[in-house]
Amino acid sequence: MRTAPTPGQQIEALRDELRHHEHLYYVLDEPKITDAEYDKLMNRLKKLEAEHPALITPDSPTQRVGGKPREGFVKTPHSRPMLSLDNAYNEDELRAWGQRVRDALPASESVQFVCELKLDGLSVALHYGPGSHGSAQLVRGLTRGDGTIGEDVTTNVRTIRSVPLSVSAAKLKAAGLPQSFEVRGEVVLPQAAFVKMNEDRVAQGLAPAVNPRNAAAGTIRTLEPNIVAQRRLDYYAYFLLENGEMLLPAQSATLDALRAAGFRVNQHARTVANIENVIGFIQEAEPLRETLGYEIDGVVIKVDSTAQQRRLGFTGKAPRWAIAYKFPARAATTRLEDVLFQVGRTGKLTPVAALAPVFVGGTTVTRATLHNADEIERLGVRIGDLVEVERGGDVIPKITHVVEEKGSKTPRHKITFPAECPRCKTPLVREEGEVDWRCVNASCPARLEEELRHFASRGVMNIEGLGEVLVAQLLGHSIAEHEADDALGENGDAPTGAPTRKALVHSVADIYTLKKEDLLTLERIGEKSADSLLEQIERSKQQPLNRVILGLGIRHVGERTAQALADEFGSMDALIAASADDLTRINDVGPKVAEAIREYFDNKRNLDLVKRLRTEGLTFTAEKRVRGTKLEGLTFVLTGTLPNLTREAAKEKIESAGGKVSGSVSKKTSYVVAGEEAGSKLDKANSLGVPVLDEAALLRLLEHGAEVA
Ligand code: IVH
Repeated sequence: MRTAPTPGQQIEALRDELRHHEHLYYVLDEPKITDAEYDKLMNRLKKLEAEHPALITPDSPTQRVGGKPREGFVKTPHSRPMLSLDNAYNEDELRAWGQRVRDALPASESVQFVCELKLDGLSVALHYGPGSHGSAQLVRGLTRGDGTIGEDVTTNVRTIRSVPLSVSAAKLKAAGLPQSFEVRGEVVLPQAAFVKMNEDRVAQGLAPAVNPRNAAAGTIRTLEPNIVAQRRLDYYAYFLLENGEMLLPAQSATLDALRAAGFRVNQHARTVANIENVIGFIQEAEPLRETLGYEIDGVVIKVDSTAQQRRLGFTGKAPRWAIAYKFPARAATTRLEDVLFQVGRTGKLTPVAALAPVFVGGTTVTRATLHNADEIERLGVRIGDLVEVERGGDVIPKITHVVEEKGSKTPRHKITFPAECPRCKTPLVREEGEVDWRCVNASCPARLEEELRHFASRGVMNIEGLGEVLVAQLLGHSIAEHEADDALGENGDAPTGAPTRKALVHSVADIYTLKKEDLLTLERIGEKSADSLLEQIERSKQQPLNRVILGLGIRHVGERTAQALADEFGSMDALIAASADDLTRINDVGPKVAEAIREYFDNKRNLDLVKRLRTEGLTFTAEKRVRGTKLEGLTFVLTGTLPNLTREAAKEKIESAGGKVSGSVSKKTSYVVAGEEAGSKLDKANSLGVPVLDEAALLRLLEHGAEVA
């Protein structure tokens, strides 16, 4: 007789299935089911766990996004130092290293080398400890820190989908691993995720990150796991330790075991028998750079045998048994022909270098950013100078320095920052303490162009068809003018050329009064595209309040903040009426953001815009959010004294959101909420890998729920 599976069995089966598909998707890049099917499985698991909260464990696929680490990150010593590597910059240096290795080992022994790509990210150690049913579960993630002491970034590391939260007993067996072990590897931010992150930052009026490595390092140290989860970091494993000692007899075996255990291991690794073959690998690896989708800055070569590694040992700060071959920087020398000035959505003026075309890192570069007036000063660069252009992980090439030239006859001109906006001629303003010059004319056409692009974009009002080209056309540009200008608009800023036709829109609200006959006068717009555009515009009137707020383009107000404002105030009028104090009471809103919001609504022109959007039929509806189920299925333990909430108040809040409060910490505890003088419960949470929240993080969780992002 067969009996129906218990809820516990159902839950375990679903988790196994989800883990299997996560592994296929995030580690092997070979999904076997659609996203929708995956979501369906995930929702079934969430529902079951909600019905049986006692069965929730920290290694469940539903538990990737936890809470906020308290006041920064806890410093924790490494099991053995995380060292850096010595570098080789050419083949001779590499051969010399190979010879030193050879000389240090008996001639009778053969030496094998493992060549791996040198991923340009940051190294992170993952500690696993005994989990249920003979599995291993992730208990801690540490950054390199100073090499001896790292920072505990467990909650953030848990959000990286290619990091297994647990390794089943079967996989441990297949890989030959004990239940406790340590993995070391590299956290990287794939280029696509980097580009997306920078788009978001620019949309919020923030400076873009310079390269994926900095972005990855900044992200892993973000105090807000929800943000980390959105960034789509990736993890490549390359070391396996037990109590600080290499677990397996060879590096090649380590990579195989890591793969068998379900970790993502870079597929471009090769074991070779001599340095000439290492050089062959390097020559094949370098052109890969342009195609990988993530940054590499060289090749790491390791002596394969663990026993030989041990005998070779370490110099002061680096192992003798490994070396990093660094690729030459992707840089070239060219002449600065001119400097153009572009105006962004917030009016910010960006100087852009126009360069004599030069081939760098796989593409021809004709533009480089000069960032701002201070940067021009720092470089001491003039028009006509020979400059070094570098393409790092950065999307936009940059000028690193002026190249000295003897006897050059090229005339030089000092770069003068314009005193007025190149498009509307309004005098530029530089606020105290800021490096950027801005055009403060709110109706500057260059700014309007950027505002329109932002307003219509997918993540905002989602008006399909109203892209860059059409925006330019609506402002009176021909397609040819747009394309000519677009070459300058590489970093997304509005071009500076003047239009040749009359503009059809003068404000974002004018989108809603566009008529079919107007649209038909535009190049490449026929009956069908005009109709579908008008339909899209009409549909966008129903966009929820948070999107409209985002669409206004208030400085520092990105997607999250817009959502928080919509949730908190529920209507546009309430938001307009909110004082700076009301605003800062929201978790996501600091004084700077509050000031920007107040400033925006204190401006009559902006209020008029909102009014017009309303008369044009935008509904500004706040999405109804169901209350009382946010924390369903989650169990909390409170410890210590919270700064504002009493124990009772915290308990009530959790319970009214559907969560449970329990008195003792176990593996089943979803979160421990810790305040001042938290005691043994906090220690227990840390040892079990239960995420710890402070009061602010709890409040955030109460607001947003614990959904996996
Ligand atoms: S082995 C003692 N392998 O490069 C051994 N490191 O310059 C050191 N890195 O801190 C690490 N890819 O962050 C190793 N396949 C790879 C690597 C790699 C990137 C980074 C790592 C390390 C730095 C050393």
